[in-house]
Amino acid sequence: MFTRRVAVVGTGYVGLTTGACLASLGHQVVCGDIDTAKVERLRRGVVDIVEPGLSELVTEQVSAGRLSFVVGAAAAVSAGFPDEGDAEIVFLCLPTPMGVGGVADLRAVEAVVEETRELLAAGTVVVNKSTVPVGTAGRTAELLDRADVAVVSNPEFLREGSAVHDFLNPDRIVVGCDTAEAAERVAALYARLGAPTVLTDAASAELMKYAANCFLAMKLSYVNAMAELCERVGADIGDVTDGIGYDRRIGQAFLSPGPGWGGSCLPKDTHALLQVADAADFEFRLLRATIDTNTRQRQRIVDKVRAAVTGRRTGSLARVRLGLLGLTFKAGTDDLRDSPALAIAALLRQAGADLVGYDPALVGDPGDPDKVAPGVVEGPVGREVEGVPLVSDPIEAAQGAEALVVLTEWPVFRTLDWAAMAGVMKQPVVVDTRNLLDPATLRRAGLTGIGLGRRVA
Ligand code: UGA
Repeated sequence: MFTRRVAVVGTGYVGLTTGACLASLGHQVVCGDIDTAKVERLRRGVVDIVEPGLSELVTEQVSAGRLSFVVGAAAAVSAGFPDEGDAEIVFLCLPTPMGVGGVADLRAVEAVVEETRELLAAGTVVVNKSTVPVGTAGRTAELLDRADVAVVSNPEFLREGSAVHDFLNPDRIVVGCDTAEAAERVAALYARLGAPTVLTDAASAELMKYAANCFLAMKLSYVNAMAELCERVGADIGDVTDGIGYDRRIGQAFLSPGPGWGGSCLPKDTHALLQVADAADFEFRLLRATIDTNTRQRQRIVDKVRAAVTGRRTGSLARVRLGLLGLTFKAGTDDLRDSPALAIAALLRQAGADLVGYDPALVGDPGDPDKVAPGVVEGPVGREVEGVPLVSDPIEAAQGAEALVVLTEWPVFRTLDWAAMAGVMKQPVVVDTRNLLDPATLRRAGLTGIGLGRRVA
């Protein structure tokens, strides 16, 4: 079987998934990270992030001797394969957070390039997997200043919560390089997956990642705007999206209205592409409207809660107790980065509401009570996230609440004992920003359910 020696620098959800999955495809993989404690945990098979199947895959590949962990990028590229030689392909899977003015912050990538440039063996291919501005492959090549090392862009399209599945079942593989031979070497790593492969130049590959995420964001802003229109004209968004989704050019996926899109990728990438467009002197109005629609969506949810609780569009939320169900940016993850739920919580607090939150991913690990998700802190009266006190059971969120607000689409919310929830609430109102719950179930439990763009029965 064709195998390569691969180094992966960065063990976040992209790096760790890439490393474990490439190992499962038969390659010899060494992952490097600057966080010594994390490397220690990974060596013991402890995976910090909530990602279905990842921890099992890591353990399996470590036991099979195809996957190992070292501290630092330098060790990964040179010392990681003691008996076999240096890494042939080096993946950079590093954070590229939103810097000042929405510009991607490339300091982590630059630091690793600086650290490893003299260690790379001749003929190594450096692969950028992080989402980076167009031109970064060229810039990386300049920083490396090594004519014998090629730089390839190979953007990832993994979703948090299904990263392993997405890696092993990709819709496509994109590899961009100005040297065809290097691009083909990287594409060959994935040959066993049998996915359509787009070989292109580096700039097109880099732009493709932004183009995909911004298109998805645009699709969601469109759906959220359409849901609002549905409310105004008495139509139902579920039926509308169902109907348009059968058109294969549109597709059924990514058509659920919600509290706005968030997470570590879509907000960052939409702003970054706007910067790319500005720098290229292109007024990307459609993208700007996509972002503005999303920002407005949060206020729209607050207005909905206000109307639901007070019966008036201008009613006051001061000292109104609200239970928030779901705080992560989507279900299936404990990630709170750029979560629309937290943005809405901040607006509700500004309006004077008294909040309490429940999220199944934030209740703590019964096997390890000290382990908390990043973003959860110890507050004056227990754990909290961005000032929202956390409770460990949905019924506690309902206790004395004038409304419950469903912000994340956790399937478990569907099967809560809604009659019991209604029994402890001050006012039996549920604002369901994900259209997750069955309106008839809520009605039977004595609750008034208010969704987005739903026909009022
Ligand atoms: C996104 C892309 O989907 C991945 O293809 C990409 O690889 C990844 O960014 C990345 O750039 O790394 P992710 O951030 O994990 O993945 O989240 P999504 O599943 O795309 O969800 C984004 C947001 O849209 C969430 O807030 C989610 O709740 C919301 N959403 C999604 C909806 O409101 N409705 C939908 O129908 C789908």
